[in-house]
Amino acid sequence: MITTSEEQEDDVVLDVTLRPQRLSEYVGQQKIRKNLQMFIDAAKKRGESIEHVLLYGPAGLGKTTLAHIIANEMGVNIKVTSGPAIERVGDLGSILTNLQDGDVLFIDEIHRLNKLIEEVLYPAMEDYKLDVIIGKGPSARTLQLDLPKFTLIGATTRLGALSNPLRNRFGAIHRLEFYNEDEMKSIIHRSGKILGIPLEDSGAKEIAVSSRKTPRVGNRIIKRVRDYAQINDHQTIDSAIARKALDMMDVDQLGLEPTDRFILETIIKKFNGGPVGISTIAAATSEEVETIEDVYEPFLIQLGFLTRTPRGRMVTEHGYAHMGIDMPEDSQRKLV
Ligand SMILES: Nc1ncnc2c1ncn2[C@@H]1O[C@H](COP(=O)(O)OP(=O)(O)O)[C@@H](O)[C@H]1O
Ligand SMILES: [Mg+2]
Repeated sequence: MITTSEEQEDDVVLDVTLRPQRLSEYVGQQKIRKNLQMFIDAAKKRGESIEHVLLYGPAGLGKTTLAHIIANEMGVNIKVTSGPAIERVGDLGSILTNLQDGDVLFIDEIHRLNKLIEEVLYPAMEDYKLDVIIGKGPSARTLQLDLPKFTLIGATTRLGALSNPLRNRFGAIHRLEFYNEDEMKSIIHRSGKILGIPLEDSGAKEIAVSSRKTPRVGNRIIKRVRDYAQINDHQTIDSAIARKALDMMDVDQLGLEPTDRFILETIIKKFNGGPVGISTIAAATSEEVETIEDVYEPFLIQLGFLTRTPRGRMVTEHGYAHMGIDMPEDSQRKLV
């Protein structure tokens, strides 16, 4: 799916090409930027590393980018790994002992770290110590190694899946927000410039509003729009051309794609608008619970089309209106 904000294979190259390198190039997320700038300046002045940082929010909003920027601004190396990639305690041990003072260790999908490894991480984060067990059985001993003063940056799409002890060991926790139209427009313009795509302001705007307020989606769409324009011999991209390309991709004026609409329609038609549990929605739409939770739901909630209640998900009045279906009286009652 073109608008899936999860990372796909050909994104890797595109992401790297378009990734801002400095905090000043990073669009939006002003609160986070200001805060980070302050901590980076202070740490540099003291000649120390910065505190551990946890970044969370839906896919494609700029967590990985920010981790690289922090390392860049600090002038240190970054070692990149992910929760599922660290399989054994020894894997983490060798990563940690190979860091240098000040280095950034970036652990993506940190909620997927296994418990045993998490426990090794606690003293490493807190006291820069690593407990190593030498030998086996009754003669085994523990040896404590000193680690370099590194900065851990964790990223996750699900703060709730992180254990409390791990969460508490981060000095700063930042939530990334969806981008507004102006911010998306400047990201689209910036990407267009880097990729050499002739974009008119109206074209950038059309792409901006159809990109789920998500930079990764915008970057992917702009490439597809460029392909469309080239095939059809258009020299520049205005709103009409962008719209035609988006229509071909089945992306509507709000950035919804067929799966979003299918999810709304399923809840409305099969479950009377809800409330209905996430696993039931997943089964009825043949999507995975994780995909719905990470990709589709956050944006539908952000648009105000879907709401979470203790008894399950419900389609709101706006959601019904967008689907062109009248909201029945009884589900209106359930919403209040
Ligand atoms: N604030 C931003 N300003 C400009 N481009 C951004 C911004 N955030 C993300 N991007 C673009 O979106 C792409 C995806 O961002 P990424 O950091 O990989 O998202 P995440 O790790 O949250 O899934 C990046 O390659 C970058 O080009
Ligand atoms: Mg990422």
